[in-house]
Amino acid sequence: MLSNLKPQAADKILMLIEEYKADTRQGKVDLGVGVYKDPQGVTPVMRAVKAAESRIWETQTTKTYTGLAGEPEYRAAMARLVLDEVPTDRLASVATVGGTGAVRQALELARMANPDLTVHVSDPTWPNHLSIMKFMGLPFVEYRYFDNDSRGVDFDAMKEDIARAKKGDVVLLHGCCHNPTGANLTMDQWAEVVAILEKTGAIPLIDLAYQGFGDGLDADAQATRLVARSLPEVLIAASCSKNFGIYRERTGILMALAENGAARDLAQGSMAYLNRQTYSFPPDHGARIVSTILDDQALRADWQAELEEVRNTMLGLRDQLASELRDLSGSDRFDFIARHRGMFSRLGASQEQVETMKREAGIYMVGDSRLNIAGLNSDTVPVLARAIIDAGV
Ligand code: LMR
Repeated sequence: MLSNLKPQAADKILMLIEEYKADTRQGKVDLGVGVYKDPQGVTPVMRAVKAAESRIWETQTTKTYTGLAGEPEYRAAMARLVLDEVPTDRLASVATVGGTGAVRQALELARMANPDLTVHVSDPTWPNHLSIMKFMGLPFVEYRYFDNDSRGVDFDAMKEDIARAKKGDVVLLHGCCHNPTGANLTMDQWAEVVAILEKTGAIPLIDLAYQGFGDGLDADAQATRLVARSLPEVLIAASCSKNFGIYRERTGILMALAENGAARDLAQGSMAYLNRQTYSFPPDHGARIVSTILDDQALRADWQAELEEVRNTMLGLRDQLASELRDLSGSDRFDFIARHRGMFSRLGASQEQVETMKREAGIYMVGDSRLNIAGLNSDTVPVLARAIIDAGV
């Protein structure tokens, strides 16, 4: 039976990790997978995470099963972090296996509620969004998003395309720090998106994987909060991988805002059912780290301070890269790098230019020219800038 299986295409982002590891050149630069690295190239365990783990180790008395939805403390703390003012009477939530698990459960839930739905996704989007939907056999269409000339959002095109969504369709939006482009909507544009969704009756699914990596913890949640305040039904898939640096703990949450309490109860039951069918109980260790930090004033303050250091490091690298490129190109055509937010920027280079940078300079970025800003440091920024110019970008 197993010999009937077909070989699976490797994930583009994960494949790059292996390619990078196999490269024996000194001075190679990994700008592939979306993982934060400090200037020494280390993905650190955050101070508050260490402290929370030690506290958990000291005080935890059992490792019996959690609930199907995870621990209430974690879900409440995450709802406050993301939504600030939490409409508890309308909110259903479950802990999930990372942000990816939340996206998957959100799509399953939406399909259970409307078997005829189409999902509308930005062109481009995180490749795994597409891969998951293909695997599920879920119909999707892309809406125009990135303007390759300005390297910003083609908002008129986006509006035109999402206006085609039907009632009960899902429109997948990146809450902040768009992956892979780094180009984001302004709050005025978000308000227009909300008006379109209201008119069409399509349901937003907000993927919030980088809260705190763009303009700050609250600023990065503004769009999600606006959508949550304005529309009767909203799905939110949030990840703690990046902002708590707990990638391998697989800590995420799916929140569903329902029209009323009765619909909320239905959503809560269906979400718990989905967890049960997929993996029974969600993992607890990462979730417990998160709630321990968020519910303790000192730990939270320290976590926020470290997250700000991370964010400011990335902003500094953006400015440095834009400035190097301004000098080398004698133009401001790379200034979009300083305007983009989050971990990524799409450079707008061709596949061939991306290959050239890999071959000639040992620089690894995803084939669509997405670069992970956090993979740089002040020494490698000039190397990248030179390679970009030499490759003719
Ligand atoms: C990325 O986009 O690089 C991250 O979200 C990691 C992943 O799983 O692809």
